[in-house]
Amino acid sequence: MFDSFVRQVREIYQTDAFIPLHEPRFVGNEKQYLLNVIDSTFVSSVGPYVAEFENKIADYCGVKHAVATVNGTAALHIALLLAGVESGEEVITQAVTFVATCNAINYCGAEPVFVDIDADTLGLSASAVAEFLAHHCERFDDGVYNKISGKRIAACLPMHTFGHPCDMTGLLRVCEEYGIPIVEDAAEALGSWVSGVERKHCGSFGKLGVLSFNGNKIITTGGGGMILTNDDALAKQAKHLTTTAKLPHAWKFEHDQVGYNYRMPNLNAALGLAQLEQLPNFVERKRALAVRYLDWAHANGAQVVVEPSGTQANYWLNALLLDDLTQRDAFLEYSNAQGVMTRPLWELMPDLSMYRYCQTDGLSQSRRLAQRLVNVPSSVIL
Ligand SMILES: Cc1ncc(COP(=O)(O)O)c(C=O)c1O
Repeated sequence: MFDSFVRQVREIYQTDAFIPLHEPRFVGNEKQYLLNVIDSTFVSSVGPYVAEFENKIADYCGVKHAVATVNGTAALHIALLLAGVESGEEVITQAVTFVATCNAINYCGAEPVFVDIDADTLGLSASAVAEFLAHHCERFDDGVYNKISGKRIAACLPMHTFGHPCDMTGLLRVCEEYGIPIVEDAAEALGSWVSGVERKHCGSFGKLGVLSFNGNKIITTGGGGMILTNDDALAKQAKHLTTTAKLPHAWKFEHDQVGYNYRMPNLNAALGLAQLEQLPNFVERKRALAVRYLDWAHANGAQVVVEPSGTQANYWLNALLLDDLTQRDAFLEYSNAQGVMTRPLWELMPDLSMYRYCQTDGLSQSRRLAQRLVNVPSSVIL
């Protein structure tokens, strides 16, 4: 099976050279828009491309507002602050995520509490959150408190793993019941949708949502992120906080709070606009790639991660599920030695030294997934 996998990937990418996990593709107006920016001299935080990129992302995702940032981590930091997360509080999140999710919680002076995922979505489980809240938390007039730590649960932060949408309907039901705001980490999920009466984009369900345009994402701005929200006041605050909290004035430099220099430069937004023009094409090609992996899996008795029912995923990163840790490690050794890059799931967050002290609910699905999953090459095939 290992050998057949490597042959399949080489056939897909039509090369004998090293095959990376994810490479960006620049096949549209990228060079032209970047040259326009350089010619205009507006390479930094002032310039027309930022607002245009924000408007087009908001339109695509079906939200009222999008506020561009220097990266997805900064977007998460601001989104959590705007959701009301304060120092000494807790945020419910998943152990299966990239470290930025937890770091952003930490930047607010808060701590993550790790609750398990659903095996079909790879994202935060609504039933596990409900169980955690029912058994470990108490409601008071000013919010929900963790009975063990005594800390307020300030927010819930689900992450759409590899672009596969979480059970947002279930999570919204539970969090609304307890009055807990949701911030969605949709860093990996641009182009991923949940079907239903109304088709909705990942990152548009919660009070705020966040995207990343890091070089490995489905579209890139080099580095960049976006805060999504339907709330006018939060959007205004997001722009203010990410722009050093500067009061608008033609020449005076006055700031009304400690803000952040988190605005996306015009240069990056230009790249983003050109990439956004390619997004429908990239999503289609990534979904076609996922079908090729699925066909291979069927023919070889292997298992791949497929989009949860009722969703349309961008298949940002494809993944295989091996039998166990021994087979996973043998697969990683073999494929990487053959020049086909594969990698395991991120170390679970509570296994990292910084988050080892954090409360968990046992994380049985998360631990099982961590032993079995490998990501496989997923660059868009042109
Ligand atoms: C799940 C998740 N959250 C947050 C981030 C942070 O985004 P950035 O690298 O743009 O800071 C990333 C990716 O990099 C991610 O995969």
